[in-house]
Amino acid sequence: MKAVTWQGKRDVQVDTVPDPTIEQPTDAIVRITSSGICGSDLHLYEVLGAYIDPGDVLGHEPMGIVEEVGSEVTHIAKGDRVVIPFNISCGHCFMCDHGLQSQCETTQVHEHGTGAALFGYTKLYGQVPGGQAEFLRVPQAQYGPIKVPEGPPDDRFVYLSDVLPTAWQAVEYANVPDGGSVAVFGLGPIGEMCCRIAQHRGAGKVIGVDLVPERLERARGHGVEVIDVEREDDLAGALREITGGRGPDSVIDAVGMEAHGAPVGKLAQTLAGYLPDPVAQKLIEKAGIDRLSVLHAAIEVVRRGGTVSLSGVYGGAVDPMPMLQLFDKQINLRMGQANVKRWIDDILPLLGGDDDPLGVDSFATHRLPLEDAPRAYEIFQKKQDGAFKVLLQP
Ligand SMILES: NC(=O)c1ccc[n+]([C@@H]2O[C@H](COP(=O)([O-])OP(=O)(O)OC[C@H]3O[C@@H](n4cnc5c(N)ncnc54)[C@H](O)[C@@H]3O)[C@@H](O)[C@H]2O)c1
Ligand SMILES: [Zn+2]
Ligand SMILES: [Zn+2]
Repeated sequence: MKAVTWQGKRDVQVDTVPDPTIEQPTDAIVRITSSGICGSDLHLYEVLGAYIDPGDVLGHEPMGIVEEVGSEVTHIAKGDRVVIPFNISCGHCFMCDHGLQSQCETTQVHEHGTGAALFGYTKLYGQVPGGQAEFLRVPQAQYGPIKVPEGPPDDRFVYLSDVLPTAWQAVEYANVPDGGSVAVFGLGPIGEMCCRIAQHRGAGKVIGVDLVPERLERARGHGVEVIDVEREDDLAGALREITGGRGPDSVIDAVGMEAHGAPVGKLAQTLAGYLPDPVAQKLIEKAGIDRLSVLHAAIEVVRRGGTVSLSGVYGGAVDPMPMLQLFDKQINLRMGQANVKRWIDDILPLLGGDDDPLGVDSFATHRLPLEDAPRAYEIFQKKQDGAFKVLLQP
């Protein structure tokens, strides 16, 4: 089959690799019809090469049609239309029972002391072949796959794999009071969906912060008040001014480790990208390699007693944190990979009708054949050609 493979820093390729087969009675094989490219894939493309091998298949936002199921998979059958969550979780351990599917005890990666395995996401998360491919082997398929109805195009459902539950969790964790204010840093797919979900769930004021003009414009078009960080010298002051002088009740960081405007972290990341793998791994594990400008700004601007919710991914082991400010301002801090299955029952009803309250039908800017993956990664990373969300369609 054809699959998108990682080859090196800023180098992905479409290769022919062996077709996946059923290996466990809990496996399923899915023929992929759409597969998103995520901001998390960009971290692999740019920074996290030390943990991934050339030839590894990328992708963790797939949907498609079930081709085959193992003997223990009973809730789906050949021919069903399914979305595959990016976490691989079992559905029956302590963590899954507590709605913490991204910490699943059956699939945790003990070798690295990390949480649940993920599709297409480095040795830290199990080195499981991903879903930017013609076919995908789905482990723990007795639980993971989400059956969706025939009819609407893939766009309606594909974001159940990651964008929707990630944004839903970010908003839930942000604990925005009814009618309260939330600032969302980063207006990529995750941040923009956070804005839409916060509006839908009754936030009074949603403020979006980014530096890409088209992304600011898109969010403004959805009733978000926007601030361009490149044009605002006093971001904290501007945010306080539009929130009655106190700062927003909640702040969501939907940028993560590659924030613009953080020279120290950028230097460490550039180094990590060019060092031999074992040396780079040491740097990442022993040093702070994240660009922390956004996280620190979030802590700076949130009102006293407010909540900072991180959905942007961070990876440094000893990143410096402003403990005085966190403690003094009595800030609540929540974060983590999305527990995808936990939020599906809340989200699915919003995808059923034609009213499309979250705007998923027109969310993607590009639907490209799998062969175009190298260009798709490039335009998404460089924010060229209006690329905002790209779906690869094998
Ligand atoms: N927690 C999870 O389960 C989960 C799931 C999916 C994605 N993520 C993470 O969420 C983050 C966003 O993902 P995405 O797909 O939206 O990616 P993206 O790269 O398209 O979005 C990031 C946005 O942040 C903006 N940005 C960069 N520096 C900034 C700054 N200093 N101030 C304000 N904005 C800035 C960029 O212009 C871009 O629009 C990534 O870190 C990704 O890894 C987490
Ligand atoms: Zn993703
Ligand atoms: Zn589990």
